[in-house]
Amino acid sequence: MARLASKVALVTGGANGIGLACVERFAEEGASVVIADLLDGPGEAAADKLRGQGHQASFVHLDAASPTDNDAAVAAAVSAYGRLDISVTAAGIAYAGYTSGDRSGDADRLRMGAAVDQATGFLNLPVAAWQPVLDVNLTGTLLAVQSAGRQMVTQEGGGAIVTIASIAALAPEVGALAYGVSKAGVWMVTKMAAMMLAARGIRVNAIGPGFIDTNMTKIIGDDPARAARILESVPMARFGRPREIADVALFLASDEASYVTGELMLADGGFFTH
Ligand code: NAI
Repeated sequence: MARLASKVALVTGGANGIGLACVERFAEEGASVVIADLLDGPGEAAADKLRGQGHQASFVHLDAASPTDNDAAVAAAVSAYGRLDISVTAAGIAYAGYTSGDRSGDADRLRMGAAVDQATGFLNLPVAAWQPVLDVNLTGTLLAVQSAGRQMVTQEGGGAIVTIASIAALAPEVGALAYGVSKAGVWMVTKMAAMMLAARGIRVNAIGPGFIDTNMTKIIGDDPARAARILESVPMARFGRPREIADVALFLASDEASYVTGELMLADGGFFTH
């Protein structure tokens, strides 16, 4: 029996990487899926492909930082499939100006990382580099949780929300101040939401992925020396695959996790063993 039979799932950031893997994995397990993303082309294409494979799938445009877009995405799921059982909040950016799959900023990013000493980088981080990351990753997660939660409290059976934090929520990383703070915030939003919504039958859990092979980490993967340095901190000595995160999301979203809420489940190849 499919593990998500008759469930309806909405995945922000569902057009690429971890979000897309969740969409595909959930569809395989019988869920009707709604992909919500800023990128219309890849989002529409992913929904088309899933429909071609016989799944129920649709796409809705979403700017994660917009309250009205988040409400509209939930409304689209309810209008298409009648309810919302699962929300995954995977929309995220690595730094201000990042667009999934666009590699044009890589050279600047590498130059900045190499040229600026650590204290100077921290002391002079401009608000323009901080705010967009907080807007999408942290505010975007809160808005998605609120919009999904408002729907879930109105329906029989509650629901399950899975946020995507990061190992960066727990371990400070040079050059990733805004990102790390945004992910630490995601973890706190998750705990707060779990506490506030438990009595309404809504479970809320976070995943803390380590280094996963997606558009976001191509800048590392394309540089063998840098990748090798990073993998020294990963006992499993490899990057994770998006599907390995989707499997964790599947567990947390499914009824198999019926007594799990307010957790941060790391999936990091052993990063935090030392
Ligand atoms: P990705 O770049 O492949 O996918 C991110 C998706 O989010 C893209 O489809 C993008 O269009 C969408 N998105 C970005 N800004 C948006 C906005 N304002 N509104 C709606 N959609 C937006 O990256 P990846 O790796 O799949 O990231 C997914 C999540 O996982 C992010 O929150 C990321 O921070 C997190 N994560 C990723 C890790 C990795 O190693 N790849 C590690 C830990 C966490």
